Amino acid sequence: MNQYPLSADDFRQAMRLLTLPVAVITVDSGGQRNGLTASSFCSVSVDPPRILVCIGKHASAHSQLVAGEGIGINVLAPHQMDQAMLFASKTRHGEQRFSNEGWHTLKSGAPILKDTAVSFDCIVDQIIDDTTHSIVTATVVAVEKGAGECLLYRNGAPVAVPAEA
Ligand SMILES: Cc1cc2nc3c(=O)[nH]c(=O)nc-3n(C[C@H](O)[C@H](O)[C@H](O)COP(=O)(O)O)c2cc1C
Repeated sequence: MNQYPLSADDFRQAMRLLTLPVAVITVDSGGQRNGLTASSFCSVSVDPPRILVCIGKHASAHSQLVAGEGIGINVLAPHQMDQAMLFASKTRHGEQRFSNEGWHTLKSGAPILKDTAVSFDCIVDQIIDDTTHSIVTATVVAVEKGAGECLLYRNGAPVAVPAEA
């Protein structure tokens, strides 16, 4: 029994106050591409270059995340809100989310989107089983830098902030 209960709704409302970057997390497992929109990513360490992201166990891409395989963490630019919506869509899944021409690979084989703010090409190290989500830690093996402007999300809506702000 939780001694310090807080409702999910109270926590959700508090989290909506944060301004966060948004990424499209991608995998290519045996030729089957998939991915999801996520804002729960951050660096773990700089040396070695490691990053983490929390993936819901309900997400269709969750089962394709395997230690030793590649993932792309494509941090979206302000003009890529459509990609954020596509990769969070309830009606389009798997390959249907890769409908545009802007995909390529770097070292790991994970799908990397062009013209992002920045994309991290990673190899999954660990999948840590938590409650509703898995914490995925990964080593960054390549970086593709974009123009520097980031799509930011706050209170359920996009906020664009220029790089020099
Ligand atoms: C701005 C935004 C941020 C999100 N962040 C996360 C996240 O960090 N982790 C997560 O598992 N789902 C996150 N989601 C929800 C997933 O993108 C969504 O549940 C997705 O549809 C799940 O994939 P599926 O449809 O393939 O099952 C986020 C959605 C949005 C719009």
